Amino acid sequence: GKDGYRHYMLKEIYEQPQVIGDTLNAYINPETGTFSLPDFPFDLAGASKLTIVACGTAYYAGFVAKYWFETLARIPVEVDIASEFRYREAPLPPGGIALFISQSGETLDTLEALRYCKRQGQKILSIVNAPESTIARESDAVLYTMAGPEIGVASTKAFTTQLTTLACLAVTVGRARGAIDQERMQQIAHALREVPARAADVLAHDERLKELAQEVSEARDVLYLGRGAMYPLALEGALKLKEISYIHAEGYAAGELKHGPIALIDDNVPVIVLVPSDALFEKVVSNVQEVCARSGKVLLLADKKGIDKLKDKVRWSVELPACDPLVAPLLYAIPVQLLAYHTAVLKGTDVDQPRNLAKSVTVE
Ligand code: F6R
Repeated sequence: GKDGYRHYMLKEIYEQPQVIGDTLNAYINPETGTFSLPDFPFDLAGASKLTIVACGTAYYAGFVAKYWFETLARIPVEVDIASEFRYREAPLPPGGIALFISQSGETLDTLEALRYCKRQGQKILSIVNAPESTIARESDAVLYTMAGPEIGVASTKAFTTQLTTLACLAVTVGRARGAIDQERMQQIAHALREVPARAADVLAHDERLKELAQEVSEARDVLYLGRGAMYPLALEGALKLKEISYIHAEGYAAGELKHGPIALIDDNVPVIVLVPSDALFEKVVSNVQEVCARSGKVLLLADKKGIDKLKDKVRWSVELPACDPLVAPLLYAIPVQLLAYHTAVLKGTDVDQPRNLAKSVTVE
């Protein structure tokens, strides 16, 4: 049942500290604090290329992982949506590995992309939430997310547990390839193990996000901006808002703004900016200034450093915990989910069963 929550989606958002913790316990040895992934029947660390394919929110998890695999493991990564990838006849190299991400394990386009990669001689790894699903069965190796059943059509806890699993995988591969040292690996293990507690801190901003949802609910269009791994999070934020509140939203890479989308900015358009303190911080700060100069209404999601720097410029802000940039996508996912959730509730939509959508897409 919904355990007293008004919707499954809200319950599932609140379950995240727990299920992220459960997923970490599966892939980090709690005693030693070291990563402990199962042995694969192929050499992932020696892969010539990693091809990541998925749909919707699972695709955005894969898109975040592209940044992680490239920076931490120095593996060339291609990421694509399954409905495009499967028909493209992409040439795939010998020694390549294909990674599929799916909550249900039954998404038909993802499954057909998997079968294509198999025919092309790729080894198949999948990250799946539903045990005994078709995608799990047809893979050479499977990593399960420990999200438990996800009932709300909008994916929330499946997404953050996919990210958790992908982070553990990228770090393990990065270490095996010698691309990161022992110390960095331990730092990341530590940062990941802090995530459940920090995620609970983020949930404490629920009331504030509910107030801000009032502003979002009055908008016709909403933009989400981020750079680096926050770019896929911006895309995910826009998807979440569209699918449950039916408000038009777009995510953009913040640096792409000046190549067109900035023309959309006026004082009617809320612009939600995800800006943790990371290597691209100053770059995003200048993008925020560009938006503010055009009277854009910025809602800043940032830690103390970002808030201090921009609070006089932006309309609204929510202070998130400072964290290792690597785990920021896990934490920044939560306010984005809550904002979409509360906006949808204000709009009076059917949050758990949005119109035209199905939980498992087994048609092409
Ligand atoms: C969005 C959402 C969908 C799914 C997509 C893939 O909130 O839930 O975009 O992420 O249909 O589904 P799975 O992960 O089951 O393959």
